[in-house]
Amino acid sequence: MKILVVGSGAREHALVNALSADPGVDAVIVAPGNPGMEAVALCEPLPAGGLDSEAARQAVVALATRHGVDLVVVGPEVPLVAGLADNLRASGVPVFGPSAEAARLEGSKAFAKEVMAAADVPTAMAHVCSTLDEVAAALDGLGAPHVVKDDGLAAGKGVVVTTDRDEALEHARACLTKEGGRVVVEEFLDGPEISLFCVCDGTTVVPLAPAQDFKRVGDGDTGPNTGGMGAYSPLDWAPVALVDELVTRVAQPTVDEMWRRGTPFVGLLFIGVAVTSRGPRVIEFNARFGDPETQVVLARLETPLGGLLAAAATGGLGDVPALRWSSRHAVTVVVAAADYPGTPRTGDPITGLEDVADVPTAYVLHAGTARDDEGRLVSGGGRVLSVVALGDSLSEARERVYDAVERISLEGSHFRTDIALAAQQNELHVG
Ligand code: AMP
Ligand code: GLY
Repeated sequence: MKILVVGSGAREHALVNALSADPGVDAVIVAPGNPGMEAVALCEPLPAGGLDSEAARQAVVALATRHGVDLVVVGPEVPLVAGLADNLRASGVPVFGPSAEAARLEGSKAFAKEVMAAADVPTAMAHVCSTLDEVAAALDGLGAPHVVKDDGLAAGKGVVVTTDRDEALEHARACLTKEGGRVVVEEFLDGPEISLFCVCDGTTVVPLAPAQDFKRVGDGDTGPNTGGMGAYSPLDWAPVALVDELVTRVAQPTVDEMWRRGTPFVGLLFIGVAVTSRGPRVIEFNARFGDPETQVVLARLETPLGGLLAAAATGGLGDVPALRWSSRHAVTVVVAAADYPGTPRTGDPITGLEDVADVPTAYVLHAGTARDDEGRLVSGGGRVLSVVALGDSLSEARERVYDAVERISLEGSHFRTDIALAAQQNELHVG
């Protein structure tokens, strides 16, 4: 089997590694990829101007056809919401990734709420607002802390959670000034958050192992939200029945509702939930693998990934045997460039990567990396690297991952020092 992966982050690097390790996969091509993937995959450039552009989508279809690939796996949400999976299917290429219509589960929070209501999925109470007066009424009706979300895609930066009513209104005002702008004002959910990835073929749902992500830039969950600064899996503190409950109460009813609407969901349904004292409540849906959770989930998956995703793309998940998992703990820590999550500084040399091999189980996945004119590896984006390590215990995995991170030099870079610390210290409690 030949597989084309679309994207260029550490999530896609993890996907490319896992797909290359599948004995049923002969070749992996990635577009556009990054310097870290060159050792395992053929990197093909895409036209500049964003993965959602018509030119980029046509280029992906052309690549899939030219290489005669058996499957395309789409990493990021932007091309999915723009209809890349539809373009590929129209050309007869099997794809792991939802149609534009099904990707609205991520692309519009109001749409996700509507589907959840129709499918009776437990989630936060919410009001969809298109004027500031409606927002003010919703904020007062629900009370503090306030949660205000941009309806559309915002690269993890569209949500404000605050006890300050003026700040909540200000965020709503900024979102509403966009053309067709809408915001979702919702009830605050209290409890640890988890990410559960569900592989879907339109009717059948196969859950992967749950993970936890760290969204804020600073230790102790301080500072602004980011795309994600680290993750770990498994979650020893979570109730054993949680995954089954999330499949039964969230993923399956959602997939069934999308099927009923004639817009089946084929791809990765990412369920972000808060585990509250009243049970799990959905915080968000995404229509793709999460970054950085994928880095730890795939580090533990022993079942070959290519066969699983190909089965999902072709409606055959019902025949896939139970997935096999390593019992080891995986932790990933993101090394971010100076000034991230603002406008990151780029072009700084990255050194010390070869020393990571001296740390047992540790390895580095590339995200925002590039080569300069002399071929040296330099920073090229906000989240630069995702360092991963495994251990027989969470503390061993943490020790190793931080040992590895300390060996890497990138001027001005920063990382969180408390990834998975609360879990290691048994400080997480449901609700
Ligand atoms: P989202 O983009 O929907 O994942 O939201 C970003 C982050 O905002 C989430 O990971 C949560 O930490 C927080 N958040 C979103 N919705 C809520 C909510 N209803 N209650 C509490 N925190 C929330
Ligand atoms: N780590 C959260 C996300 O990928 O949206």
